[in-house]
Amino acid sequence: MPSGLTVAEASELRSRDPATYLERARASIADHVRGMLEYVRAGSYVFDYGNNLRGEAQQAGVEEAFSYPGFVPAYIRSLFCRGIGPFRWAVLSGDPGDIAAIDEMLRIDDPFLVNRRVTTAETPIAGVVLEPETRVYLNWTSANRDEAVFGDPDAYRPEEHARHNLVYGTGIHACPGRPLATMELAAVTRTLLESTTHLDLAADAESERETYPLGGWRRVPVRLR
Ligand code: HEM
Repeated sequence: MPSGLTVAEASELRSRDPATYLERARASIADHVRGMLEYVRAGSYVFDYGNNLRGEAQQAGVEEAFSYPGFVPAYIRSLFCRGIGPFRWAVLSGDPGDIAAIDEMLRIDDPFLVNRRVTTAETPIAGVVLEPETRVYLNWTSANRDEAVFGDPDAYRPEEHARHNLVYGTGIHACPGRPLATMELAAVTRTLLESTTHLDLAADAESERETYPLGGWRRVPVRLR
């Protein structure tokens, strides 16, 4: 949100004049990043948590914006690479069959819908060549339900579909939280199945879908027996 505006003023400007809104928001981001750079100069530890503040500030003319790191390369990746800190438990996720089952449930109704990317080189994909600097909208949900790859997208075939599953992304930015998420989801699913004999949708309460940018269900009331 551009600085100096109330929420109501920002909302009004956004509907009336989106281009000016974006320009003012970017100028505010640039001021924010200049402030962060002052902290760098004063000797503090400074990092970006993945909202692309540095990228926006650079576009607004802050040339040194990338002189401090993003959170993932600075702190997270090295922990995963060495299996230390809270991440050492992630390898205990257990039976490989559980992993395929959890991945397949998530593939059918993906909770993580999209990522944005900018190509850094000419990129041929599906018969189209994207120029460098093309903005790309990666739709994981759609990729995970591609009939050309999976046939019937609703068919539950964990082992067969595992190698095409893109729930956690792919390449250098593939989700480092995957083992932890899998372990938690497998534990919840196993406990639920082991401690109940019947699981029915609650007759008197509505289920609710999540809304963009999240996928899957926000709320599914059930009756356990
Ligand atoms: C069901 C749960 C989860 C799903 C479906 C999921 C999915 C994803 C996807 C699709 C990406 C993007 C991959 C890409 O950009 O190419 C991602 C990135 C990431 N995820 Fe997850 N994730 C989940 C849980 C977690 C958990 C539990 C953590 C942390 C403990 C986590 C931490 C991260 C981080 C730090 C990144 C950024 C990696 C990078 O940019 O290099 N995720 N995740």
